[in-house]
Amino acid sequence: MLTLDGDLGAGKTRFSQGIARGIGVREIVNSPTFTIIKEYEGAEFPFYHMDVYRISQEEADELGLDEYFYGEGVTLIEWSSLIEDLLPQDRLGIVIENQGEQDRLFRITPSGARYLTWCQEMKENGCLS
Ligand SMILES: Nc1ncnc2c1ncn2[C@@H]1O[C@H](COP(=O)(O)OP(=O)(O)OP(=O)(O)O)[C@@H](O)[C@H]1O
Ligand SMILES: [Mg+2]
Repeated sequence: MLTLDGDLGAGKTRFSQGIARGIGVREIVNSPTFTIIKEYEGAEFPFYHMDVYRISQEEADELGLDEYFYGEGVTLIEWSSLIEDLLPQDRLGIVIENQGEQDRLFRITPSGARYLTWCQEMKENGCLS
């Protein structure tokens, strides 16, 4: 479960496309701003790409978000801070900061034991600072 936040145009969708490729999604991954959720088939599990920028309280209640959050696939949510109260406790929070034409800063905050351990391992092997 990944959450992506950051200013308009920070690169959330672009980064999501990279994650999708890593999961083995062969389809083209576009911004799900108007559909809110798009589902893709990965090599081993599904990829659920969400953008909740325009979500209403009603939609948030109706979409059955928990089925995505606690299901088999990988869920990634752009603009997750807008539905903070509905997010699962265990998640990897990423905030992207635009630092110039080509430069982006990723701030990664793990929540829950699983992601804390993952971040610790990434630090130990030098993948995260
Ligand atoms: N790391 C990067 N380096 C250079 N350009 C980038 C990078 N990431 C994204 N872009 C470009 O910035 C533009 C906006 O990117 P993207 O749509 O991914 O942002 P977003 O954060 O998803 O925006 P929104 O808030 O509208 O959902 C696109 O034209 C994209 O190609
Ligand atoms: Mg986007």
